[in-house]
Amino acid sequence: MTANRLILSLSTLAILAQTTFAIAAGDSIQEAQQLVNDLCATCHSVDGVSADDAFPNLAGQKHGYLVKQLTDFRSKARDNETMGPIAETLDDRMIDALATYYSSLPAGK
Ligand code: HEC
Repeated sequence: MTANRLILSLSTLAILAQTTFAIAAGDSIQEAQQLVNDLCATCHSVDGVSADDAFPNLAGQKHGYLVKQLTDFRSKARDNETMGPIAETLDDRMIDALATYYSSLPAGK
């Protein structure tokens, strides 16, 4: 294989890798929106600013904080009778997608 062909193959690979990443990111946002609608919106709302004082706002919260709380609810390190059973249904990928979704929204009051 000539050097030129090698470089060509390498750049094709790089483009493929980027495209795959973009598709994966798009999928996880869609997945997160579906999860939010199905599992979270009744209490935390779709925009992450809850209508009721009993439920914390999630919009604009730090990604790492959201991941930690959901992981802690799941393991019961943070024991909560409402959030525990919900978090138990989430895997790490879903938690990451939900944290990405809510942390990307503008914080409410
Ligand atoms: C039935 C209502 C309800 C649903 C549905 C619900 N939550 Fe919660 N959530 C709560 C309550 C109540 C708290 C406060 C728990 C506490 O007092 O420790 C909470 C707390 C949280 C926290 C911690 C916030 C903080 O400031 O520490 C996160 C993160 C969270 N919920 C995410 C979610 C996600 C993501 C979903 C959907 C997968 C969801 N919740 C679904 C009621 C709900």
